Amino acid sequence: MDGRWLEVDSFLEEQLLGSDPVLEATLAANAAAGLPSIDVAPLAGKLLHLLALMIGARRILEIGTLGGYSTIWMARALGEGGRVITLEADERHAEVARANFARAGVADRIELRLGRALDTLPGLVGEAPFDLIFIDADKPAMPDYLSWALKLSRPGTVIVGDNVVRGGQVAGPASSDPWLRGVQRFLEMIGEDDRLTGTALQVVGARGWDGLAIAVVRERPPA
Ligand SMILES: C[S@@+](CC[C@H](N)C(=O)[O-])C[C@H]1O[C@@H](n2cnc3c(N)ncnc32)[C@H](O)[C@@H]1O
Repeated sequence: MDGRWLEVDSFLEEQLLGSDPVLEATLAANAAAGLPSIDVAPLAGKLLHLLALMIGARRILEIGTLGGYSTIWMARALGEGGRVITLEADERHAEVARANFARAGVADRIELRLGRALDTLPGLVGEAPFDLIFIDADKPAMPDYLSWALKLSRPGTVIVGDNVVRGGQVAGPASSDPWLRGVQRFLEMIGEDDRLTGTALQVVGARGWDGLAIAVVRERPPA
């Protein structure tokens, strides 16, 4: 990792995010509980927050909670009556996340559903559509999560997928690595599906060299 990436991240965080004791306490609680530090970087958390604000999101779905760092960023963008549903398979992660939500004062806006996402997603059909869907769990299942996101969306829904560059590996040959294949198929699906229009951005910084994909469900198919 290039040391300048970290320097620039710190500079941008200082200029644009400032100090945030609640989110800092969230990361400290995650570390104290031994959770892996694979939450989105602060600047990416702010991007999720901004996307939610831009579209006036009232219903947000997150797949992959960890300690709830990204969940809190998104929950903070919700207006009155808004809700985030976040899906997490690991009981320990869920426990830490729930404590973080309470400390951050956003527990009333967040519902954490424990279980493998492919088991809990079908239960959300009656609660759709979501305005913003953030996919950030196990990468081999990303194509399945995108199919579910489409089922749980409406025209205008924004879908974000994290970790789509993986240190540049994404551009390599189709691989037998299920993580990489999941990401490659996810991107291919966004490019191929007429219901979606999307892009992806490479990101360097505190999380190394990675990237995120953003797509929107079209109002109507392209002419
Ligand atoms: C990258 S972390 C999520 C980080 C979080 N979105 C953030 O930025 O703060 C991925 C999480 O997905 C969870 N996960 C992995 N496989 C899952 C599955 N099949 N269903 C639900 N959650 C899963 C992991 O336990 C982990 O907590």
